[in-house]
Amino acid sequence: MKLNHMLSTKDFSRKQIDSILSLAEKFEPVALREKRCNILDGKILSLLFFEPSTRTKMSFETAMLRLGGKVIDMGSIETSSVMKGESLADTVRVVSSYADSIVLRHPKEGAAFMASEFSTVPIINAGDGAGHHPTQTLLDLHTIRRESKLDGLTITLAGDLKYGRTVHSLCYALSHYNARINLASPPELVLPDRIIQDLKNRGIKVTKFDTLENAVKDSDVLYMTRIQRERFPDPAEYNKVSKEMRVTLKLLENCKPDMKVMHPLPRVDEIEPEVDKTPHACYFKQAFYGIPVRMAVLVMAMEEKYGKVL
Ligand code: NCD
Repeated sequence: MKLNHMLSTKDFSRKQIDSILSLAEKFEPVALREKRCNILDGKILSLLFFEPSTRTKMSFETAMLRLGGKVIDMGSIETSSVMKGESLADTVRVVSSYADSIVLRHPKEGAAFMASEFSTVPIINAGDGAGHHPTQTLLDLHTIRRESKLDGLTITLAGDLKYGRTVHSLCYALSHYNARINLASPPELVLPDRIIQDLKNRGIKVTKFDTLENAVKDSDVLYMTRIQRERFPDPAEYNKVSKEMRVTLKLLENCKPDMKVMHPLPRVDEIEPEVDKTPHACYFKQAFYGIPVRMAVLVMAMEEKYGKVL
């Protein structure tokens, strides 16, 4: 049987994205605790996180609990059988007989796809190395839709475009919305050529900039990212580039008055704290939108196998 896996944004259609975002909007009152809903009563979600996480893990957990479902968590790698040498394939085989869906985060690109070959329940990719992070993209698009405009937007993707899976996922999805994409990164961390080529093939206008200042001038959204220290083969390379790009009050003087600054979080030092108080700052709201969007993702993931839950 074909399962509702969510592995990458490459094969999302605009229709699929729009229907998830519309459902997410319906769940906002539940996420805000203004309404109650328990359509996932009786369902169990399993969390397999082989890499650190705060927001992704806790927002999936919150979304599941607020919809009346339950969560089982493998916990840290140190306390699981992974420490005894168990393979990801075996872990997934077993856990898919315990839970109705699996949220997986793993340091290896392609891990979610591999897991989907062994799972009997939907796999939701919560980040596979420098690969994809599709539910982050959905919450990013939802944020843009609610706080700015999605169709025809100009967006600057900045920071670590080489290793950042959130930007890799986001740019494919933006290709459905006639976006213009500006890129700003240290020269060592440019967006991989194969992705730029894919975007061009999808008819997207991609422009590279040397400085953040020049990139943001005409942008509706600045999507800032953390330099992915954990993916650098050489720590000295990280130290060289870690402080190169920063969102400051001064930078914001020259952007559109209604430009939104987004960031998947966690931030380290790439947005100065003073920016938080400006109307541009959108990253905490963005983190909140993770709840209604993941509610929609969970309902859709579990729907096919268990009949209509709505
Ligand atoms: C991102 C990730 O894990 O890719 N975090 C998140 O899920 N919100 C971004 C990051 O870690 O820099």
